[in-house]
Amino acid sequence: LNIGVLISGGGTNLQAIIDATLSGEIKGNVKVVISNKEDAYGLKRARKSNINAIYETNESNIINILKENKIDLIVLAGYLKIINSNFVNEFKNKIINIHPSLIPSFCGQGYYGEKVHQAVIDYGSKITGATVHFVDEGADTGPIIMQDVVRVRENDTAKSLAKRVLKIEHEILIRSVSLYCEKKLNVQDRRVFINE
Ligand code: GRF
Repeated sequence: LNIGVLISGGGTNLQAIIDATLSGEIKGNVKVVISNKEDAYGLKRARKSNINAIYETNESNIINILKENKIDLIVLAGYLKIINSNFVNEFKNKIINIHPSLIPSFCGQGYYGEKVHQAVIDYGSKITGATVHFVDEGADTGPIIMQDVVRVRENDTAKSLAKRVLKIEHEILIRSVSLYCEKKLNVQDRRVFINE
């Protein structure tokens, strides 16, 4: 399967996907990486792996690039923009997102990056985690594919918590993309079933 990855920043989730395609864990190839930030380190990561890396902010141009590359699966990996409904409808249930909390907690408008972990700590939650989900018109509201948990420690800061959650993100994102490429994900309305 041809995978397109959208990023805005460091691209550690992108790197995890690239590595998993090289190891064969993901039966697909990352064909194009698109960033809405010109200085995103993730673009350098893509180029280092000889992957077409493009800086683009116009959503209709992004859709055209994805179509030209015959992309079968789009992964939003630290992509800090809400994509609009015609983008979602062009690629129904072919877009997955990774969010650094247990949706439906600490998600939606304004909850991204370290803000998520700071909110978890400020609230006093004892567990947090990460969620992989299909993207629908809302912000972090699509059908959930996979989640895993991280316990919050009393001495945690947003940074220390982010580090442990990021590790889980990479794990569940790779497993979700791998299952998708093996056509083992089955969406029925809001629910996602894994047929192993
Ligand atoms: C991180 O906050 C991560 O939790 C979220 O996007 C941000 C950047 O991730 N998915 P990455 O290192 O650019 O993949």
